[in-house]
Amino acid sequence: MAALRARSLMAAAGLIALGSLAACSSSKADSTPAPAANAALWGDMKPIVSVKELMHDLIDPIGDNVFDSVAIIVEKNKTTDIQPRTQADWDKVAIGGTMLAEASYLLKVKRPFAPPGEKESPGAEEVELTPEEIMAKVQKDPVEWNARIEALRNVGLQVLDIVKRKDVQELWDAADNLEMACENCHRSYWYPGETPAYYSRLDKRLREHSLAGPSAPAPEKPPSAPKRTGQPNPTR
Ligand code: HEC
Repeated sequence: MAALRARSLMAAAGLIALGSLAACSSSKADSTPAPAANAALWGDMKPIVSVKELMHDLIDPIGDNVFDSVAIIVEKNKTTDIQPRTQADWDKVAIGGTMLAEASYLLKVKRPFAPPGEKESPGAEEVELTPEEIMAKVQKDPVEWNARIEALRNVGLQVLDIVKRKDVQELWDAADNLEMACENCHRSYWYPGETPAYYSRLDKRLREHSLAGPSAPAPEKPPSAPKRTGQPNPTR
């Protein structure tokens, strides 16, 4: 709901902008537009880091401003409700929303998926695509990649809309939507091999291993848990 509201607000803003542009250009019909000058003014976007580093050092930490803003922490004999209460708390959520909305488009700047020479963690080849495979998949279907980016951006916009109204209940929904936006992209591009079939194979191997007893040789390829640093706050 809130995401839809945010989108229709954007559309309205877009219409207003278009309207004033049309008024402006009709009054100066003789002046020729200068797209080349614009290009020189705004310049090209040049990447610094790989997608992996962008995730680790920007998208993931800033996502926490949203993920960690709401939580219910259950301890032995008390339950703590985490939610934004002060203006500073809401500012932190707004920083998360702004950074996610803007930083999502950095994924549209062509950059390597991992730093050069980066090795996959052992066992990862079973579930994870290599950086080269991710690049090939993105280039084959840019529409999907761009849609995943838009999904992330929309959650950023939704968060900004919620901050205006300081609606805690909707913030919970936004945190769920954010998790989905991260997870859907990861499942498609990062660890598509992590399917239910993979988990039942893993279970079977672990069962066989423990049945064989502690003296049994380790399985050829020890199943290592796939990296999952993108998981939000487990207390929720
Ligand atoms: C448009 C797709 C996309 C979206 C959306 C996305 N990611 Fe990622 N993310 C990737 C890809 C692709 C990789 C794997 C890069 C690699 O290892 O080559 C990745 C890797 C990561 C990593 C691992 C970094 C490392 O050092 O190994 C983390 C953490 C992560 N993402 C967190 C997040 C979080 C949190 C969100 C949501 C707030 C998110 N990502 C949204 C595509 C995405």
